[in-house]
Amino acid sequence: MRISTDSSPLLAVRGEIVHFTDDPFAHGADACVHFPDGLLLVRDGHVLDCGPALALESSLPTDARRVDCSGKLILPGFIDTHTHSAQTEIIASHGEQLTTWLETYAWPAEARHADPAYAAAGAGFFCDQLLRHGTTTAMVFTTVHPASTEALFEAARARRMRMIAGKVLMDRNCPESLRDTSSEGDAQSRALIEKWHGRERLAYAVTPRFAPTSTEEQMRQAGRLFGEAPGLYLQTHLAEQRAEVAWAMWLHPGARSYLDIYERFGQLGARSVFAHCIWLDDEDRLHMAAHGATMSFCPTSNLFLGSGLFDLGRARDFGLRVGLGSDIGAGTSFSMLQILNEAYKALQLVGQTLTPEAGFYLATLGGARALYLDSYVGNFLPGREADFVVLDPHATTLLGARMSHASTLAERLFALMMLGDDRCVAATYILGEPAFQRDVSVRSQNL
Ligand code: GUN
Ligand code: ZN
Repeated sequence: MRISTDSSPLLAVRGEIVHFTDDPFAHGADACVHFPDGLLLVRDGHVLDCGPALALESSLPTDARRVDCSGKLILPGFIDTHTHSAQTEIIASHGEQLTTWLETYAWPAEARHADPAYAAAGAGFFCDQLLRHGTTTAMVFTTVHPASTEALFEAARARRMRMIAGKVLMDRNCPESLRDTSSEGDAQSRALIEKWHGRERLAYAVTPRFAPTSTEEQMRQAGRLFGEAPGLYLQTHLAEQRAEVAWAMWLHPGARSYLDIYERFGQLGARSVFAHCIWLDDEDRLHMAAHGATMSFCPTSNLFLGSGLFDLGRARDFGLRVGLGSDIGAGTSFSMLQILNEAYKALQLVGQTLTPEAGFYLATLGGARALYLDSYVGNFLPGREADFVVLDPHATTLLGARMSHASTLAERLFALMMLGDDRCVAATYILGEPAFQRDVSVRSQNL
């Protein structure tokens, strides 16, 4: 291929490239594309091509901007399908299960984000944490306050990140200061949709927190709104803990199951993303699959809150869309590598094995498919938005030692997902521009 020189300068990033064109659960090793010495070509923020460096190098125009990432891995940016921007400050808070954890830690934190200046500082910090951990796309709960949603969209826009977010709807069973009314919540959501949905790389998610904190009226309005505008998302929590399921069923006595509550109110569909999905039955899975709904698997949160063990194998049996979620602040890490670490262990406990290829697929293309974004992000096919992460497989002395005994790509990816974290993220690129670069001095402190 001869690369034309007639538009903006070409970026040529050289390193070991790994990405997925399909699902390794279904298609095995063929789904993984690997160029040990590869070149990723980017123009105008989009992937132009990627392939072996030796084949592409000779056709590069002389003015190409070259970035040498030799010795490092280049992967599509990670995709976090469930998290909470206003809970960053209470990550790693000791000792409770879901409802007491919400009352003790999450809700007081969220109340602080009523203040627009506080919300803006928190949103900026949250986005910077995503970037330093290699995450370039996220689906996010803010708080009940529209100012917190405004702040997050502003912060994501300033960083040119892909972000799906929504203002929390909750009009009962929560503190007064965090309560909206069904009509207020609806009007505020509509105003935010009008301003942000479809703007640049942003999209809106109607966000009923979970069935126990919304009245029937609010649930009905949320379902109606979700159905109104094309491309709108809906995000909520589903079947995370057994006591929560019992509570939801007690509040909605006619429902067949917890999922059925959402379905009755028109909240089950393509682009509905349900976090956790632990305590479900096969009828629920069937309904979710038939509607094209998504499950967000949040292993660090599920283990931290003692929620239970997600059944990935069963979700796969039903052909469900599954992504990974950090679920900050019940989740204990922004790092997709650490999330894979805990996903692996949680799956071991139910007799399932997560291969490294399947793990990195879930963190990239799988997440993009889960969010219906795979025509934009998730891999390096030509035309995709050039969001990528540069991982240093020798970022720590322990990783370096392990790598010297790893011969295959799978072994090295597995070591990265078990031993890696933000120290491995050498750089994160958004639309072909560096959005985070790890300072050499910072790196040496972590060795
Ligand atoms: N269920 C309802 N709200 C929340 C939340 O903020 N975090 C988690 N983990 N579960 C929830
Ligand atoms: Zn959550």
